[in-house]
Amino acid sequence: MKTVKFGIIGCGLMGRELASAAARWLHLLDMDAKPEIIAVCDQNESALAWFRQNVPSVTQATADYRELLKNDEVEAVYCAVPHNLHQEIYTAIISAGKHLMGEKPFGIDKSANDAILRCIEEHPGVFVRCSSEFPFSPAVQRICDMIENEEFGGIIEVASGFLHSSDLDTNKPINWKRKISFNGEYGCMGDLGMHACHVPFRAGWMPMNVRAMLSNLVPERPDGKGGMAVCETWDNASLLCEVNNPADGCTFPWLLKTYRIAPGEKDTWYLEVRGMKKCAGFSSKNINSIQLLDYTNGGEQAWQHVDMGHETAFKTITGGIFEFGFPDAILQMWAAFVYELVHGKPLKKFAACVTPGESGVSHRLFTAALESHRNRTTVPVE
Ligand SMILES: NC(=O)c1ccc[n+]([C@@H]2O[C@H](COP(=O)([O-])OP(=O)(O)OC[C@H]3O[C@@H](n4cnc5c(N)ncnc54)[C@H](O)[C@@H]3O)[C@@H](O)[C@H]2O)c1
Repeated sequence: MKTVKFGIIGCGLMGRELASAAARWLHLLDMDAKPEIIAVCDQNESALAWFRQNVPSVTQATADYRELLKNDEVEAVYCAVPHNLHQEIYTAIISAGKHLMGEKPFGIDKSANDAILRCIEEHPGVFVRCSSEFPFSPAVQRICDMIENEEFGGIIEVASGFLHSSDLDTNKPINWKRKISFNGEYGCMGDLGMHACHVPFRAGWMPMNVRAMLSNLVPERPDGKGGMAVCETWDNASLLCEVNNPADGCTFPWLLKTYRIAPGEKDTWYLEVRGMKKCAGFSSKNINSIQLLDYTNGGEQAWQHVDMGHETAFKTITGGIFEFGFPDAILQMWAAFVYELVHGKPLKKFAACVTPGESGVSHRLFTAALESHRNRTTVPVE
């Protein structure tokens, strides 16, 4: 079993998810490589304390990421810091010759993403990917197999999105995601958009143009100090894109939604593909279920609701009938990263993390979406 020695920069919510995934690597079958977290970095001492207490393999804990990057034993880094730090820290990691799993949006804006992509080009020996875990749900993998096998026929339409209701409570104090200096002008698109783009981009469904409508529904919030603070970023975004299907050269509409204020939705990721021969739909609200419609000319149009079990891309010890959850998706994503790092190619086309090039398309799309909303026009995605 090969061991990949990892450092984590940004030991908050997502940094701890990697620690948990690494700790239960034995859950995976047939893996010939595993991560070991040996170094952690965070400016918040309590975040480091959690790692010291819970991850015995950690031998370095520092507040300065440069110190972690000087550690010759660290081969790969997971960086999960606020968006304003992506360019500086991702380029430092890549320039230090460490492999990188970066968090979305992979740069606070297009110019930051361009700088990261240039740095990757200058360091071809470094393996770089962007995180996105939801496509690893068994039902989504099944939709992906259907895409790969061209089972849908001509595509009628695609809908994908990520809906939260975490900001519905107008008394919730402001956090960094509502400030342009930390989260960027994209707002909810930068935060949630990559999740909704991963499968369509991997399918080769690239947006040619976009008409976007963006909403700032809660323009100010408590500042946590007794006053109010201005919320500068977009809460909700609806993007209608014209997509060219490389399979047949035809175009179809793709409706992409990223909402931070979607009443009734706690953390809903969904994907629907409607084709002339088959249709399929999945929502993380019903994690165990996939909706399928298999149509033959002149026949009935009947939706089937099929229970999925634990039919994961990377095989696990869990029995095939048991349900799948968020930590399982994270484990699958990390298996995909480690597998591709070690083998030089993904296990399957869709059982793979977001590439830097795909992150670049998302930035072109979200930058065009900002212009579209500003001018109330359809804008080419160039
Ligand atoms: N893949 C997902 O599902 C998912 C979910 C949530 C967040 N994210 C992404 O993860 C990233 C971090 O978000 P989060 O929710 O974990 O945030 P978080 O606030 O929980 O954690 C960020 C951590 O970074 C640390 N930090 C800030 N500046 C630092 C610096 N200069 N050096 C070292 N550490 C520093 C903070 O102290 C904090 O502990 C963002 O890019 C976000 O978009 C991804």
